[in-house]
Amino acid sequence: MDSIQIEGGIPLQGQIKIQGSKNATLPILAATVLIHGISRIDNCPMIADVNAMVKLLQNIGCAVTFENHSIIVDATRVRESRLPKEEVIKMRSSFMLMGALLGRLKQVSLDYPGGCVIGKRPVDFHLQALKNLGITIEEEENSIIAFTKRLIGNDIHLPFASVGATENCILAAVRAEGNTRIYNAAKEPEIMALCQFLNQAGAKIQGMGTACITIEGVAGLHGAVFRVPSDRIVAGTYVFACVACGGEISLLQAPVKQMDSMISCAEQMGSKIVAEGNQLRISRHGPIHAMPYIKTAIYPGFPTDMQSVLMVACALADGTSRIEETIFENRFKIVKELKTMGARAVVDETNAYITGVGRLQGKHVIAEELRGGAALVIAGMAAYGITVVSNKYFIDRGYEDICKDLSRLGAKISVE
Ligand code: UD1
Repeated sequence: MDSIQIEGGIPLQGQIKIQGSKNATLPILAATVLIHGISRIDNCPMIADVNAMVKLLQNIGCAVTFENHSIIVDATRVRESRLPKEEVIKMRSSFMLMGALLGRLKQVSLDYPGGCVIGKRPVDFHLQALKNLGITIEEEENSIIAFTKRLIGNDIHLPFASVGATENCILAAVRAEGNTRIYNAAKEPEIMALCQFLNQAGAKIQGMGTACITIEGVAGLHGAVFRVPSDRIVAGTYVFACVACGGEISLLQAPVKQMDSMISCAEQMGSKIVAEGNQLRISRHGPIHAMPYIKTAIYPGFPTDMQSVLMVACALADGTSRIEETIFENRFKIVKELKTMGARAVVDETNAYITGVGRLQGKHVIAEELRGGAALVIAGMAAYGITVVSNKYFIDRGYEDICKDLSRLGAKISVE
């Protein structure tokens, strides 16, 4: 049951609802640790990474219950500051618990986090920022111990607008004494969601969504209810599925306002997109146009998480596209697999040049990471013949049920 089989070549038709955002849910769940009470997070995606975060919360003393897509966290009795290795190394977001536990217990010890194999992904920005808040950090070969007597607000200048480092700083700073200002903060919508949740719980954060976030430390946080916004990357995956396969689909509960860069790219490639409230209608009936040049960038630029699925559409376009990857240095992993399906692509360190071919051919391919895995499924849908994508568990980290979603859009897809 760990492969996906697809019979490709069918234009898409139908409508689906977009799940809650993975990258918003994970730091918000970490943030519940700061609250001496009960939080209720609605619209959580039921995915492997969320389950891993829930296990971590339970390990440190939170009582967690599920009600459909809501997760209720009672963090009244958080006592444990040592995070278990087997859960921490499953995903990079476990590192969010560092800021949260420092805010709650003033100490934490954990192993270096895991996550997708899409680059070096160090945590130096996180550690430097936390040190600026008065935290002592002792690094051993595979683990980190961090502690402080007093968390003290400070000015933090991030060398790069890292999403995770911004989130970790916010989580620690909400309980610090005095004000913290994060300069060159990430502006991703998931930061906005985290800050809105924390403010609902009594935090005093301003400037989220801009490059300078100000946090006035507070003595305590109270329980809150929050609805996670929809997942822009999942919605974008299905937009580019329609670009690649053709047809006409509707996405309900799409985070339309967060998707400008993806919508503009899909339109340039020949699809028609109409937004009505939070519904997105995408159609593509004519040829797919190449993207002469596009680069991934921090928000509101084109997301690095959409790069692989865009590459699938480029592999079928009428000309040569160039995609420059500016965020992660090892993110052209699916090129090898796409080539076995007949794609023409050349990569250097940061650029992929893809010359469209009329059709891809179904093959057995192997997912090596989350977004690349989803892109291979889309490639299979656009290809002639049968494609088998193995290592489905990577895809399950971020998509609730990609097979169900895509079969609702008319794809012939099943789990093997
Ligand atoms: C988050 C997202 C991920 C997305 C990425 C970029 C989550 C759970 N994951 O990952 O889906 O692809 O943002 O939008 O929200 N870096 C360092 N040192 C650090 C931290 C980061 O060098 O301490 C580098 C990374 O290696 C990478 C770049 O900065 O090259 C961006 O990383 P960052 O924004 O931190 O991404 P994540 O938070 O890991």
